[in-house]
Amino acid sequence: MKITVMENERKFDEAAAWRIIGQMLQKPNSVIGFSTGQTTGNMHAIVSEIYRLHPFDTSEVTVFNVDELAGLPRSYEGSCYAMIKRQICIPLEIPEERFIMPRTMDIDYGKECAWFEEEIKKRGGADLQMLGIGWNGHIGINQPGTPFGSDTQLCPMDERFEAKVRSEVDVPESCELGGLTLGIKTIMHTRKIVLIAKGKQKAEIIKKAVQGPVTEDIPASVLQLHPNCEVLLDADAASLL
Ligand code: GLP
Repeated sequence: MKITVMENERKFDEAAAWRIIGQMLQKPNSVIGFSTGQTTGNMHAIVSEIYRLHPFDTSEVTVFNVDELAGLPRSYEGSCYAMIKRQICIPLEIPEERFIMPRTMDIDYGKECAWFEEEIKKRGGADLQMLGIGWNGHIGINQPGTPFGSDTQLCPMDERFEAKVRSEVDVPESCELGGLTLGIKTIMHTRKIVLIAKGKQKAEIIKKAVQGPVTEDIPASVLQLHPNCEVLLDADAASLL
């Protein structure tokens, strides 16, 4: 793994944004996987600002998000569909047919997962995955204990993330929520992965994922085995390395 540490959050956001822009410029028909969450909001805003100031051809770029919430409508503004559409597709003029996202409700999830994987494969596979990391080391929504050989699947969310979602949206307790996520095996098939983390609250899990043993208890640790993975951090997230 190549580890890059930026001296502060702003520089981290800019460096992460340039990884995305660089990929699009280098290969105009790139297939790029995004992640949502607090880590990526500012970097997506910078991507959109760079494009506004220096527009280039994005007509061949394909975009998807590594995961999606299941059981909530896409119109929920915290759905990954809504976030990536708002933060990336609209500002970069990426049309709906080049935005691959699984549907979220009233579907056969098994079939939808297979469709999601197939659509990425059909376009030649993912070139770049910008990958966030959860507090417990999850990548996408693959929780600790998920087999490294897993395919795209429907998973339970971790309890902190689910509590956050439930606080933001009006769903009855009885309504089961979950996440549809690219599997660990699928993520490992990406040509280049950039694992991104910022802030002190990520320092401990970054240390475990990057310098600890490779174990299914820390899903992100599998990235130590990827031949082209960069870990991009701000100084706070890197503070225990
Ligand atoms: C959620 C998302 C992940 C994301 C992670 C980190 O679990 N499903 O894709 O990487 O949160 O989010 P944050 O950047 O807000 O810490």
